[in-house]
Amino acid sequence: MVRRSHIPAWVVSIVGWRLHRQSVVFALLVGVIASVRCATTDELAPPAGAVLSGLLRSGALPTMSDPERATIELGRFLYVTDCADCHAPEPVLAHTLSAWQEILPRMAHESKMNSDEVAAVRAYVSALHRLASTTAR
Ligand code: HEC
Repeated sequence: MVRRSHIPAWVVSIVGWRLHRQSVVFALLVGVIASVRCATTDELAPPAGAVLSGLLRSGALPTMSDPERATIELGRFLYVTDCADCHAPEPVLAHTLSAWQEILPRMAHESKMNSDEVAAVRAYVSALHRLASTTAR
């Protein structure tokens, strides 16, 4: 004999709706989290190698000496380490080059960088801006 359920239909429908609603809310949450995920460090401050090869490939720079290359690599390294001591690495291209003229001395002071280190960070920021302006054309 089939035992009839003693659970009233209205309870079944409410529980069903709640479960359904939970899955809808869950799916929405996953979507929101996926779309507002933090940008990766490489998106905020692209690796020096990518910037250098991009610049050379675009023809913006015919050649680059080893010291220039090393300076930009050091600049990028400092940018994602020392410059990320107090806050997440700032998206380099979110600030114009002229804004950087004002920001860098102030932030270099914050990070107690010496003049070679500031120059390296400046070289990296400029190289990335240069690449962005050549690829935007
Ligand atoms: C000792 C902590 C500290 C270090 C190290 C530091 N910053 Fe900051 N940074 C701050 C604070 C605090 C702010 C926000 C308030 C302000 O502008 O002073 C800020 C803001 C910024 C901003 C937003 C623009 C603006 O004008 O405020 C940028 C870009 C930035 N920092 C880049 C850097 C870079 C590049 C470095 C490395 C050279 C660096 N920061 C190192 C503390 C720091």
